[in-house]
Parts: sequence; structure tokens; C-alpha cells
Amino acid sequence: ARVVVLISGSGSNLQAILDKIEAGQVVAVISNRADAFGLKRAELAGIPSQILDHKGFSDRLSFDQAMMQAIDTYQPDLVVLAGFMRILSPEFVQHYSGRLFNIHPSLLPLYKGMHTHQRALDAGDLEHGCSVHFVTEELDGGPLVIQAKTPILTSDDAASLQERVHSLEHIIYPLAVDWFCAGRLRLTAEGVWLDDQ
Ligand code: GRF
Repeated sequence: ARVVVLISGSGSNLQAILDKIEAGQVVAVISNRADAFGLKRAELAGIPSQILDHKGFSDRLSFDQAMMQAIDTYQPDLVVLAGFMRILSPEFVQHYSGRLFNIHPSLLPLYKGMHTHQRALDAGDLEHGCSVHFVTEELDGGPLVIQAKTPILTSDDAASLQERVHSLEHIIYPLAVDWFCAGRLRLTAEGVWLDDQ
């Protein structure tokens, strides 16, 4: 199965997916930022990449339309948002409905949005984690695929918590991508379907 990965930053989730998936292959990496280190990772892996700077477009929809055009030239079975820091238009989300993943550093539905680690600490939560979900029009709100969690330690600050959650992300994202590419996972009207193979 053909996977296109969208990034904006370091691309450590991209790297984990490149290193670990077996049922699919990353056919392209697209970044909205020219300085994304993930572009270097794509280059080292010999994977085509493209930069689409959102600042070059007058509005969100025209940027998203340009992205859809770029993405569709690679004919993806799955589009993976990996640290992609842009809010997507309903047109984009509908176009990739059922084949668009995101990873969010919280135990959704807790802590949608930003600064999730500090918010979990401030709330005095006993645990925190990360979530892979199908992307729908609701920001950080789509049907859940996989979650992983870690206890919050009294010694934790946002940085130490983020580091532990980040390593969990690198476990669950490749798993979710592999399950989808192997045809074991899909989004139905009833929700997420995973065969129990
Ligand atoms: C990760 O923490 C992920 O949860 C969030 O953005 C960060 C991206 O990290 N969506 P990377 O670019 O994959 O290293």
C-alpha cells in the first residue's frame, strides 16, 4: 500500500514509520516548511519530497487544493499527518475520508489542541499518552485507532513527559499504519474496524 506522509518539523514519527512498517511503503513526504528536518530524513531514505509553503497561498482552501493535487500525483492509499502543524479544511478532510491519520500527544478526548503535556501535569493527572486517530472535520476529534499511556511521575516536567510520550508515538504510529496497509483496519459508519487476526 502507498503512503504519503505530511510533516512540518523534525519528522521523528516519519522516521519511525520508515524504519518499522512492512505492509506499506512511504512513496512521498510533503512538508509545509522548507526547514523541516524530516525532509533530510526523506532524502536519506531516498524518498521523493516536496515543499508546499502555506505562506505562498492566499487562503487555506487554495493551499489545501494545491496539497491535494501534489498528494494525489502519488496515488496514496493512506495519508499520514506526522507532526503536521496546519489545520486542514473540510474539503481536504472529506477528500481523504477514511484514509487520513493523525497522531496527537494526549489520551484523546482529553487535551485536544496544544501544550498537552503541561495541561496534564497542571491537572494533576496520574497518566498521559498519545493517540492515533482517523482525521475528521473536528480538530483532534476523529475515531480512535490506537492509544498508549505512561504514568505521570512526581519528578516529571513537560519536557520529560513529552520525551516519554514521543517514544510511545514511535511505537503506535507504525503499528497503525501497518494495520491499515495490511487491510486489517478501516473506518466504517459504525466506527473503527480492526480484524482480530
Ligand atoms: C509529535 O509530538 C506529535 O505528537 C505531534 O507533533 C510532534 C511531531 O513530532 N503531532 P515529529 O515531527 O514527528 O518528531
